[in-house]
Amino acid sequence: MKDALKPHGYITKAFHWLTALLVIYGYSKGLEDVSQLADSDFFWYEVYFASFLGLAFLARFVWTKYFGGSTRLPNTAPKWEHIASKAVHIGIYVSIFMIVITGLAIAYAYTVPMLNGTFMMVMIFLHDVAVAVTPVLVIAHIAGALWHKFIRRDGVMETMTGSFGK
Ligand code: HEM
Ligand code: HEM
Repeated sequence: MKDALKPHGYITKAFHWLTALLVIYGYSKGLEDVSQLADSDFFWYEVYFASFLGLAFLARFVWTKYFGGSTRLPNTAPKWEHIASKAVHIGIYVSIFMIVITGLAIAYAYTVPMLNGTFMMVMIFLHDVAVAVTPVLVIAHIAGALWHKFIRRDGVMETMTGSFGK
């Protein structure tokens, strides 16, 4: 039996699961078309939600990087696991920030007639790209967690899931 890894703290876990739920919620209500923004209540709801999601990911990033949450992947884990997990974590942050920034840019462009042409098209294209890439990264991330649980059996997954993953 290997030594148990130090679990992530409550704040790191709260950030992790809260932001995961927000992303799932964001996907469940994804827009079909820009014309839906004509409803001003809906427009502002989207803007507030995207801003909240962006700020939550920013706060979480600062917290995990500078305070509570550095990786629990053991130093003895192979180098490729360190590289892969870091790449996927960074990828998730980048793709979420891209969804938020392009979403806000779409909203802004909607209100400024001059930006309603090429700029709007490019932002929608980038929004769609980020919306497509994020689930791929999240699936890779969950596969990585399961890899640690069932193949490595090193307790890395349980540092975030607690007794739920045991
Ligand atoms: C069943 C679902 C999930 C499991 C079991 C899981 C598990 C984990 C574990 C064990 C860590 C810590 C890794 C380490 O210490 O190096 C972690 C970190 C992380 N997870 Fe998840 N996760 C899940 C879902 C998600 C989802 C849906 C997202 C994003 C939408 C996400 C984003 C992240 C990010 C960005 C990190 C890096 C550390 C941080 O900044 O908090 N995870 N996850
Ligand atoms: C100000 C905020 C936002 C605005 C104005 C906005 C706008 C849009 C628009 C206009 C589309 C349709 C794109 C098209 O016609 O191809 C779209 C699609 C989508 N958005 Fe957003 N968005 C915002 C934020 C978000 C956020 C925060 C999420 C998720 C976390 C999200 C998830 C999605 C999804 C899942 C789709 C569907 C993509 C597809 O079916 O291809 N959006 N968004």
